[in-house]
Amino acid sequence: MALQTSPTIFFLLLILLVSLFHTPTFALKKKSYVVYLGSHSHGSEFSSVEFNRVTDSHYEFLGSFLKSSSDTAKESIFYSYTRHINGFAATLEEQVAAEIAKHPNVVSVFENNGRKLHTTRSWGFMGLEDDYGVITSNSIWNKARFGEGVIIANLDTGVWPESKSFNDEGFGPIPSKWRGICEKGSDLAFHCNRKLIGARYFNKGYASRLSTPLNSSSNTPRDNEGHGSHTLSTAGGNMVPGVSVFGQGYGTAKGGSPKARVASYKVCWPPVNGDECFDADILAAFDMAIHDGVDVLSLSLGGSASNFFNDSVAIGSFHAAKKGIVVVCSAGNSGPNEATVENLAPWYITVGASTMDREFPSYVVLGNNLTLKGESLSATRLAYKLYPIIKATDAKLTSATNEDAVLCQNGTLDPNKVKGKIVLCLRGINARVDKGQQALQAGAVGMVLANDIITGNEIIADPHVLPASHINFSDGLKVFNYVNSSKAPVAYIAYPTTKLHTKPAPFMAAFSSKGPNTMVPEILKPDITAPGVSVIAAYTEAEGPTNQVFDYRRIKFNSISGTSMSCPHISGIAGLLKAVYPSWSPAAIKSAIMTTATTLDNEAEPLLNASFIQATPFSYGAGHVQPNKAMDPGLVYDATMNDYFNVLCALGYNETEKSIFSNATYYCHKNFSLLNLNYPSITVPNLSGSVTVKRTLKNVGAPATYIVHVQNPDGITVSVKPSILEFKHVGEEKRFEVKLKANKGKVTKSYVFGKMTWSDGKHYVKSPLVVKGI
Ligand SMILES: *[C@@H]1O[C@H](CO)[C@@H](O)[C@H](O)[C@H]1NC(C)=O
Ligand SMILES: *[C@@H]1O[C@H](CO)[C@@H](O)[C@H](O)[C@H]1NC(C)=O
Ligand SMILES: *[C@@H]1O[C@H](CO)[C@@H](O)[C@H](O)[C@H]1NC(C)=O
Ligand SMILES: *[C@@H]1O[C@H](CO)[C@@H](O)[C@H](O)[C@H]1NC(C)=O
Ligand SMILES: *[C@@H]1O[C@H](CO)[C@@H](O)[C@H](O)[C@H]1NC(C)=O
Ligand SMILES: *[C@@H]1O[C@H](CO)[C@@H](O)[C@H](O)[C@H]1NC(C)=O
Ligand SMILES: *[C@@H]1O[C@H](CO)[C@@H](O)[C@H](O)[C@H]1NC(C)=O
Ligand SMILES: *[C@@H]1O[C@H](CO)[C@@H](O)[C@H](O)[C@H]1NC(C)=O
Ligand SMILES: *[C@@H]1O[C@H](CO)[C@@H](O)[C@H](O)[C@H]1NC(C)=O
Ligand SMILES: *[C@@H]1O[C@H](CO)[C@@H](O)[C@H](O)[C@H]1NC(C)=O
Ligand SMILES: *[C@@H]1O[C@H](CO)[C@@H](O)[C@H](O)[C@H]1NC(C)=O
Repeated sequence: MALQTSPTIFFLLLILLVSLFHTPTFALKKKSYVVYLGSHSHGSEFSSVEFNRVTDSHYEFLGSFLKSSSDTAKESIFYSYTRHINGFAATLEEQVAAEIAKHPNVVSVFENNGRKLHTTRSWGFMGLEDDYGVITSNSIWNKARFGEGVIIANLDTGVWPESKSFNDEGFGPIPSKWRGICEKGSDLAFHCNRKLIGARYFNKGYASRLSTPLNSSSNTPRDNEGHGSHTLSTAGGNMVPGVSVFGQGYGTAKGGSPKARVASYKVCWPPVNGDECFDADILAAFDMAIHDGVDVLSLSLGGSASNFFNDSVAIGSFHAAKKGIVVVCSAGNSGPNEATVENLAPWYITVGASTMDREFPSYVVLGNNLTLKGESLSATRLAYKLYPIIKATDAKLTSATNEDAVLCQNGTLDPNKVKGKIVLCLRGINARVDKGQQALQAGAVGMVLANDIITGNEIIADPHVLPASHINFSDGLKVFNYVNSSKAPVAYIAYPTTKLHTKPAPFMAAFSSKGPNTMVPEILKPDITAPGVSVIAAYTEAEGPTNQVFDYRRIKFNSISGTSMSCPHISGIAGLLKAVYPSWSPAAIKSAIMTTATTLDNEAEPLLNASFIQATPFSYGAGHVQPNKAMDPGLVYDATMNDYFNVLCALGYNETEKSIFSNATYYCHKNFSLLNLNYPSITVPNLSGSVTVKRTLKNVGAPATYIVHVQNPDGITVSVKPSILEFKHVGEEKRFEVKLKANKGKVTKSYVFGKMTWSDGKHYVKSPLVVKGI
C-alpha cells in the first residue's frame, strides 16, 4: 500500500502584506500584535546577512521584555519585517504588548484585527465559519460541539506529538471508554496527553519485508515523514492560530473535529520498493484500534484493487464497521484516467480530492511582457530583474535523454548551461519539488514548472527550495513558444501571495482517482469529494517540507496535496456527525454526507475537472461535501452488516473466503442483487432493456412527505414507484423501486449520468444515477 499524497509537495515565503491575523475562536491568553519600529538603518544595499541581523535584533528586543530566553521571542515572532518596514508581528500577552508600546524606539503596537485568513481554509470554504473565523449560525460545529467526546484515529506514518495541533490545553479527562495506550517504544521523548490520547506502532510486517534487520530507532510512533501528522490534524487537530507556510495562508490551522480526541496508529514506514504500509501491520492496527475504542478511522493509503478477501483495508474496515466505527479512505492519486479508484468496498467512505477557493499566485513575467499566473509557496525571492530562461532540454547533459531532461530528472541538467538561469521543466514522473531540487543543485536561480495536457489547470503551490512557479498547460505552451521563438529569452518569477475567493472552486484535482469501480461495478466509487489541494496542516520537524534529502528547512505546518488530504476532511466531518448522532450506523453517516453533497461550484455551475470540462460522478461521487447540510439530511439510506455480507455472497465468495470477514454464520439472501444494496448512489453497469432497483429510505427528521424528482441519464428513462413517500415518525422506513429503461436505439455503451432527488421542500436527498448500456 502507498500513501496517497499527490506525487509531490510544496511550499513557501514571506509576504509583503502586513497581513492580519486572527482572533482565535477559543479563549487564549495571548493575542497577535504588530510591533512597528519605523524604518531601517540599513541602506538600499541590504543583503541577507543584513536581514538576519535585523531579525536577530527583533528577537533580542522582544526577549528583553519576556524575562526569559530569546528562544521564547523566537517562538512568539511569526514575522520579522526586514526589508522596508521595520518591525515584527508576534503573539504576546496583553500586558507585554502594553509595555513594549512604551519603549522610545517603538512607533506603535497594534492588535492584529481586521482581515483574518484561515489556514485550514477548507472549513470556511465548506461553510463552518466565515472569513473572520466566526462560526456561522448554521455551522455543524455548534450542534456537534466541535466533535467533543469523539475519538478519531488514523493509520498512517505516526504523529509529531509536539505539534500544537495535539496540545491538550483545555481538554478534560480522557473518555472512560478509551482503552488505548501510548506506546513509546525506544523513543523516550514521545508522549501522549489528553488530546493525543493514544499512539502505537506496527512494524513487524514492514520488518519482514526488509532485507536488513529493522533499525531499533524504528520502534516509535513518531512521525518522521509528515504525512500522518498532517492527516490527523486535518481530521481532529486543535485550532492553532498564527500559522502560515513561509508567510502564506496565514491564519488558524484546525481539524474538522477540533475538540475530538485523537490517536495515531503508525503503519507506514520508509518505502520498500515503493510500498510503505504493509497489510500485516494494517490489520494489526485495525485490530488494536477497534479494541481501543475509536469512533472514526481515517486511512489515507491504498493499493491497487484486489479481492476483498485479500485486502487488509477491506477486511479490517469490515470488522470496524461491525463495531459501528466509521472508516474513511482516500480514493488514490492515479487520475485523471478512469477505473483508477482504490478502496472499493461499500462499507467505508471513499474520498476524491478537489480544490478550495484559495490560491498562492506567483506570477511569471516573460521578456515579451506576457504575465502568467502560476502558484508557489517558495520561500526565497528573486532580485527584481529579468533572468535568462532556458528549456531543460536545451540545458541537458549529453548523457541524458530528452525525455528525462524535459522533466528535470536527477542527473539530466548541465550546470554549465543552467547556472544563473531560470529553468523550464515539464510536470510528470518525478516529484514537483524534486525538479526544483535538481534545478537548484545544477545552479539555476529559479524554475518554471509547466503542466502537461493531462494535468491541465491543476496547479499546486509547493514549498519549492528555490523561487519557482507552477503554471497551467495553456500558459506552459506560451512559455515554450516564447523561449522557442526568442534569441535571448528572459523571465522573472514574482514572490507568491495569498488569494481567497478564487473561482471556479472547487474543481476536481487531476490526480484524483476515478471510477468506475473495478471490483464491484454496481457500487459507485469514489463516494464524495473534499478539499485536497494545497491543504495546510501540522507536519513533522524531522524532515523538510519537500521531504527531499537536501531540504534542511524545518516547519511546523506544511501545505501538501492528495486524496490523502481530502480523506481526513471527511473523517473530521464524520466525527462531528458521530457527536450529534452517536447511535447512527456508519452507513447512515455515509448516507448523510453523500445525499447532501453539491454538484455545483461557487459560480453555481456544474463541478469541473482540471481541464475545466464538466466532471462526472466518477470523479466526485455524490458531489462536494456540505457538512452543515449533512447534519440534517432528512432521510438516510441505512445498511447493516448483513447487507454487506450479502454483497460478499453476491460476489461469489465461498465459505472460507467469507469466514475472513466473520466467523458467524450468515445466511446469504438467495439471489441478492448487488444493484439492490441500499447504497446512497445507484449504478447499473450493464443495462439491457430495463432493470428495477430497490432502495429503502429511513426518516431521521420530522414527519414529512417527500416527492421524488429525477434527472434522466441520456437515453434512459427512469421511473420511481411510489413517487411520494409519507413519513409519520422518526425511524420509519419506506421502500421504493427505481426502474431504469433504455430508450430504443438511444443507449450508448459508455456511461451516462443522472440524478434522483427526494425532497420535502426543506431537505434534498440526492443520489447520482450512473448507467451503462450493453
Ligand atoms: C538507525 O537509523 C538512524 C537514523 O536513520 C541512524 O542514525 C542509526 O545509525 C541507525 N542505527 C542502526 C543500528 O542502523
Ligand atoms: C489478491 O487476489 C487476487 C486474485 O485473487 C490477486 O490477483 C492479488 O494479487 C491478490 N492480492 C494480494 C495482495 O495478495
Ligand atoms: C514591456 O513593457 C515595458 C514597460 O512598459 C516596455 O518598456 C517594453 O518595451 C515592453 N517590451 C515588449 C517586448 O513589449
Ligand atoms: C491558465 O492560467 C491562466 C492564468 O495565467 C488563466 O487565465 C487561464 O484561464 C488558465 N486556463 C486555461 C485553460 O487557459
Ligand atoms: C541524484 O542521484 C544521485 C546518484 O544516484 C544521488 O546520490 C542523489 O542523492 C540524487 N539527488 C536527488 C536530489 O535525489
Ligand atoms: C518548442 O520547440 C520544440 C523543439 O525545440 C518543439 O518540440 C515544441 O513543440 C515547441 N513548442 C512550442 C510551444 O512552440
Ligand atoms: C476532463 O474531461 C474530459 C472529457 O471527459 C476529458 O477528456 C479530460 O481528460 C478530463 N480532464 C481531466 C484533467 O480530468
Ligand atoms: C474458496 O476459494 C479459494 C480460492 O479463492 C480456495 O482456495 C478455497 O479452497 C475455496 N474454499 C472452499 C471451501 O471452497
Ligand atoms: C467468533 O468470534 C468471536 C469474537 O469476534 C469469538 O468470541 C467467538 O468465540 C468466535 N467463534 C468461533 C466459533 O470461533
Ligand atoms: C430468485 O431466483 C429464482 C430462480 O432463478 C427466481 O425464480 C426468483 O424470482 C428470484 N427471486 C428474486 C427475489 O429475485
Ligand atoms: C456486463 O455483461 C457482460 C455480458 O453479459 C459481462 O461479460 C460483463 O462482465 C458485464 N460487465 C459488468 C461490468 O458487469
